[in-house]
Amino acid sequence: MDMPHFLDINRTDPKALRGMIDQAGQMKSARAGRPRGMADDEQPLAGHMVALIFEKPSTRTRVSFDVGVRQMGGQTMVLSGHDLQLGHGETIADTARVLSRYVDLLMLRTFNEGVLLELAEHATVPVINGLTNRTHPCQIMADILTYEEYRGPIVGKKVVWAGDGNNVCASFLHAAGQFGFDFTFTGPEPLDPERVFIEQAREKGVTVEVVRDPFRAVEGADLVVTDTWVSMHDSQSMKERRHNQLRGYQVGTALMSRARPDALFMHCLPAHREDEATSAVMDGPHSVIFDEAENRLHAQKAILRWCLGV
Ligand code: CP
Ligand code: NVA
Repeated sequence: MDMPHFLDINRTDPKALRGMIDQAGQMKSARAGRPRGMADDEQPLAGHMVALIFEKPSTRTRVSFDVGVRQMGGQTMVLSGHDLQLGHGETIADTARVLSRYVDLLMLRTFNEGVLLELAEHATVPVINGLTNRTHPCQIMADILTYEEYRGPIVGKKVVWAGDGNNVCASFLHAAGQFGFDFTFTGPEPLDPERVFIEQAREKGVTVEVVRDPFRAVEGADLVVTDTWVSMHDSQSMKERRHNQLRGYQVGTALMSRARPDALFMHCLPAHREDEATSAVMDGPHSVIFDEAENRLHAQKAILRWCLGV
């Protein structure tokens, strides 16, 4: 694929990924303390128009991409799936060809990964994955940046995911392979991550374990991560069953105390406090959840620059 799309962490060259994390850190430092609306000294996106398309709700992705593009001198338009003809008969391929004549980059949050891949196949401008039912790569780039800000290189560390083996978990598994850290999933078997994500990471030489006992899983963890038990694409009717399946995997202070003393706690947010994690953990000494949220901005600015080659 010649076009520098950012579709998934496992589809992006590890050297490019490393470059993005390092550039994100540098750009963050360079504008430290400035009001959010003040431009960066460098304006690499000057003259660029970016379309941000959302077929699902979003707080962080929507606002951080919009602000990030503007800080770098570009312009944005935020569109909902309803604003466009997506899914109203016009093919995704035709939509991709048309939008590519108006804008310089497309960011899409959608349900079916197939829609994202088809858009990317036919677009003549770069496409960024802003979350699908299967993966959420921008989030994990922010998480790597956050981990390394606090603890240095993530290579060789042990990351433990507790709960639903969902889209965010899948991108963490992609990152394990590309950045070289070990990954342990702890959750009930029906909610295991897709086998292919586990195998791809193992093929890259990292250790991936599935451990049913959460207290055993977190032993020696450098980072403990969880996410909502019911994702946006999940039917609300499964809420009660999910809660029954996942109750034992809640990240509380007792579980965190079994990780390394300097372990970090992350959650991509939005969170359901007292479900997947307690407020004592979310607001406690291990938690870096709001730095994670902030770092969506900085990580995505580097992703945008890489995609646009600027
Ligand atoms: N973490 C994340 O992607 O948040 P939003 O759904 O609010 O964009
Ligand atoms: N797993 C969640 C992540 C939200 C950012 C969802 O897909 O709803």
